Amino acid sequence: MKQISMNIKSVKQLPKNFDFQTVGMITRLSTRTDRNGNMFWDIGIGDQSGDLEGKAWGNSSWYNTQGGDKFMIDPENCGFKLEGMTVGIVGHIGDFRDQLQYNFNEIYILDQNKYPPKNYTKRSPLSQEFLEQTFKNLIAEISNEEIKNFLNAVFFKHNLWEKYSTWPAAVLLHHAYSGGLLEHSVSVAIGAKDLAKHYDDFKNPVNMDILVAGALLHDIGKIEAYNPSPAPSVNVAGNVIEHIFLGYGMFMKFAQLENLSENIKLAIAHIIISHHGRKEFGSPVLPGTPEAFIVSAVDDVDFKMSFWKNQIENLSPQNDVTEFQSLIERRLWRGTSAQ
Ligand SMILES: [Fe+2]
Ligand SMILES: [Fe+2]
Repeated sequence: MKQISMNIKSVKQLPKNFDFQTVGMITRLSTRTDRNGNMFWDIGIGDQSGDLEGKAWGNSSWYNTQGGDKFMIDPENCGFKLEGMTVGIVGHIGDFRDQLQYNFNEIYILDQNKYPPKNYTKRSPLSQEFLEQTFKNLIAEISNEEIKNFLNAVFFKHNLWEKYSTWPAAVLLHHAYSGGLLEHSVSVAIGAKDLAKHYDDFKNPVNMDILVAGALLHDIGKIEAYNPSPAPSVNVAGNVIEHIFLGYGMFMKFAQLENLSENIKLAIAHIIISHHGRKEFGSPVLPGTPEAFIVSAVDDVDFKMSFWKNQIENLSPQNDVTEFQSLIERRLWRGTSAQ
């Protein structure tokens, strides 16, 4: 059975034994060796609809079609970096240990001008204009002038905005696409404000300005921890220092440059450094203020919401429950979205 070129999400809806054709950008590429000592490739490709992990075995054919002609290449010695390039894939869906396995039988390096890799980069599902306007509204609603001026200085005077608004919020797990950091930060800030309003109504007031500043800044360290392209990846600093400490360092530098008052500085720094909520999750101190409780709790929910959505979207239609997700120590269920 032959399928005409389809997007990656549609390929993932196909059952076993189907052939497929798709176009995507190579996001990951590595060589491995099977039990018999034969070399094969593990290849990740992505488009705006999703990601696909496939295998190219020793008998797979690689072609370069740039420049019009089609000629065979050896991917190990082709003279250019394959990660980040747009490719056409002709493949077949097999299975291995009850899991679908995507075999990439023919891989075509496409004309990169005709198929620009940026068209295959995953983006936030929310528009950039909407996220930017919502972000600016959150700052405009801050009543403490010092905090408002500080945030405007960090994002717009010190030029953090360009990276903050385009960076991913993670490598694989949640909001792992361009604009993901902005989407996640805005979502945490709005969710945190809603929860804080509830406690205000119950006579347990929360400092909304510190809360919003902490929510918008809590993950700024990801800017120094990740490389955004061709697909989000953790860089050396991200591996050996991690985004919480990187973010704390960035924030303290901005606080010094802008002469931020000591009490405001401590309150926001506390939110950044405690936001993972547990020492084993990378926070050296645990949340100790209402603002830090709320940001940490909403951050956790926001991560799980995005992770769930991503996993369920990638779940084949025959299944209602995902594989065991070791990171969050559970399987995820479609729940009522199955009906
Ligand atoms: Fe974080
Ligand atoms: Fe976060």
